[in-house]
Amino acid sequence: MSTVLEMKNITKKFPGVLANDNVCFSADSGEVHALLGENGAGKTTLMNILYGLYQPTSGEIYLKGRKVEITSPKVAIENGIGMVHQHFMLIPALSVVENVILGMRQRRGAFLAIDEAAAKVKDLSARYGLAVDPHRKVGDLSVGERQRVEIVKALYRGADLLILDEPTAVLTPQETDELFGVIRHLTAQGHTVIFISHKLNEVKAISDRVTVLRQGRAVTTVKTSRVSKEELARFMVGKEVLFDIEREPLEPGAPVLRLDQIEADNDLGLRALKNVSLEIRQREVLGIAGVDGNGQRELVEVICGLRKASRGTVWLGDIDVTNASPRRITELGTAHIPEDRQARGLVLTMTLKENLVLHDYYRPPFSRGHFLNWKEIRDHSRRLIREFDVRTPHEDLLAKNLSGGNQQKLILARELSSQPQLLVAMHPTRGLDVGAIEYVHRKIMEQRARGAAVLLVSTDLDEILSLSDRIAVIYEGEIMGILANHQVDIGEIGLMMAGVKKTAVA
Ligand SMILES: Nc1ncnc2c1ncn2[C@@H]1O[C@H](COP(=O)(O)OP(=O)(O)OP(=O)(O)O)[C@@H](O)[C@H]1O
Ligand SMILES: [Mg+2]
Repeated sequence: MSTVLEMKNITKKFPGVLANDNVCFSADSGEVHALLGENGAGKTTLMNILYGLYQPTSGEIYLKGRKVEITSPKVAIENGIGMVHQHFMLIPALSVVENVILGMRQRRGAFLAIDEAAAKVKDLSARYGLAVDPHRKVGDLSVGERQRVEIVKALYRGADLLILDEPTAVLTPQETDELFGVIRHLTAQGHTVIFISHKLNEVKAISDRVTVLRQGRAVTTVKTSRVSKEELARFMVGKEVLFDIEREPLEPGAPVLRLDQIEADNDLGLRALKNVSLEIRQREVLGIAGVDGNGQRELVEVICGLRKASRGTVWLGDIDVTNASPRRITELGTAHIPEDRQARGLVLTMTLKENLVLHDYYRPPFSRGHFLNWKEIRDHSRRLIREFDVRTPHEDLLAKNLSGGNQQKLILARELSSQPQLLVAMHPTRGLDVGAIEYVHRKIMEQRARGAAVLLVSTDLDEILSLSDRIAVIYEGEIMGILANHQVDIGEIGLMMAGVKKTAVA
């Protein structure tokens, strides 16, 4: 194998943050090189520098031994570098092939170009095992399919070094397997893949080498086969990490949330929830297990007032909140950790402190009459930023400048600090590092111990099993059965996730 990339002594300073501190990183042809590190360690920044989105404060980049100045993504692409971002950048209203050729210079008539491009997209899909239909609208594609479009787009532009920034964070286990198939195809044909993930199992499964970043510095580069998951975790955080969480036995109290025969449609007008009835009591976590896209999103939206139920009743305590407004439901003590932090959870162009009072800026102590009490807002934000360990120089940073995992921590800080009666958490640890996951799990257990009812939606079965008192399995909008955690049989859950109903209900 030959070295294709060398990044030498890369330093990147942002106001108040040393995001990369003298980092050396290299990659070989045909290699999968994993980049690992805590939230805010500097992984995305280093890759944004390689892709020409940022200029390093100092340091040098060599491609195949030749020094290069990557002044823009255009230059990166010309040098055979492609990047699939942590948050996708496709245009939903356009077709796959239109997205693929978007921004490229056209030499011929538009129609001819589309036909030609579609043929080339088909070619690439066949060659690398990337199943995509060039003529479908991106807005109609699943997350996994959109990601394949991003990869095709990079390959179409001639990428032989591909950067994948947390590609699996949004994928189902099956889609992850498919992606790994694609990565193996790529490396078998000499491509180099830089793979960022917080999931140590995945890093172990797919990478040849791992480089670990900690607080902007590269602490080690090792052959993956020579390290254990535990050692990798220790490199990342600099101390021992626990992998298990205590769930102390608690006696559940009064019902907090009750759903009675709920039905609702999805965005396409198709029935997404069918006759869903469930109850969650104080001091209880109900986990919703299921393959992504089986009604979980609609369920959460109905509970939070973001989607109309066409039938049935939602009760918060003894108040009927069916189709009530999101604000009313929030005011009645519901906190919501949404699935999509960038679209629903945060206003990216606002500061951290503004985001932290998004639900209650209009109430005391944050406002008096028509005036906002900025001192109170600032003190409150500083407290939360400290308590939830949001890594940032100050509370006036724009939310978009936080690292992905720290954006998630900011949402948690806002939602959990309201001392909710009901916590609706959808994929609460997506994109978080192992230390932060442990922290969030502890926080959820604290809410439970405090008396809150928790609805936890996750596609990560380990997470569901370690936090839930009872587990409901959802399939095509129907609850297949509800099991008490202590009587769970993984095989049975698997069957239920595939649509086999359970007869006895816990
Ligand atoms: N444009 C920017 N302006 C100011 N600070 C920034 C900017 N981009 C990144 N940072 C800061 O640089 C640091 C490193 O961020 P980066 O996004 O590289 O982390 P990461 O390792 O990718 O983390 P995560 O796992 O959470 O995605 C963070 O403290 C972040 O807030
Ligand atoms: Mg990142």
